[in-house]
Amino acid sequence: MTLIDLVPPEVVIVEAFGDLPGEEPFPGEEQLIARATEGRRREFITGRRSAREALRRLGFPPAPILTGPRRQPLWPAGVVGSITHCAGYRAAAVARAGDIASVGIDGEPHAALPPEVVPGVTLPAEREMLAGLGGDLHWDRLLFSAKESIYKAWFPLTERWLGFDECVLTIDPAARTFTGRPLVDSPLPEFHGRFTVEHDLVLTAVTVGSRP
Ligand SMILES: CC(C)(COP(=O)(O)OP(=O)(O)OC[C@H]1O[C@@H](n2cnc3c(N)ncnc32)[C@H](O)[C@@H]1OP(=O)(O)O)[C@@H](O)C(=O)NCCC(=O)NCCS
Repeated sequence: MTLIDLVPPEVVIVEAFGDLPGEEPFPGEEQLIARATEGRRREFITGRRSAREALRRLGFPPAPILTGPRRQPLWPAGVVGSITHCAGYRAAAVARAGDIASVGIDGEPHAALPPEVVPGVTLPAEREMLAGLGGDLHWDRLLFSAKESIYKAWFPLTERWLGFDECVLTIDPAARTFTGRPLVDSPLPEFHGRFTVEHDLVLTAVTVGSRP
């Protein structure tokens, strides 16, 4: 199972498990990473290449994918999408806006969150939930990834910030699904997502099926 299995067929996913050594930025995107570290350059270049390949499969010609003021990728008109990268993994998701209202994807290493991070990204009810989830899965990392996927799906719909304390997450471990309920004014009462844990990675995806 990969990210591809977590989204409806209208969403095109392209994944990469490494970078191409020496690959240069796509023309028009150089200025986006002009002052970036080598690691950031590599993840950006592979993420953008994956996005362009996904767009190609939807029928779009290669073009620069610029970045908006809140760091969001700027997709061609009529397209929704999302990009993620973490150590050993990069992925992009795109779909036609007529099919999918928004998509958010996130990949994280499958390891416990640093304990000092947990209070800042969880609500008390979520900490209670995490304490009750058994097995050998790092549920705190899954919660973090799920919330980032929710944010990436939320932002294009609202163009607003959503803090970790402004959305309460519940996880269904058996169904491998999660639900985020924003605690602020929202176009949707809930955001639904799916997850998998494979190859030492936690992968999450949120899709909003039709424009709310
Ligand atoms: C934006 C954010 C979610 C990115 O997550 P991350 O773990 O840092 O990094 P990832 O590699 O998974 O994702 C980075 C990609 O997210 C995308 N992204 C950044 N800002 C975005 C936004 N406002 N909306 C949608 N996508 C965004 C970009 O494509 C970026 O990659 P790129 O710079 O190469 O284009 C995170 O940095 C952040 O700001 N989180 C706080 C908000 C949040 O998560 N709230 C939870 C609410 S429940």
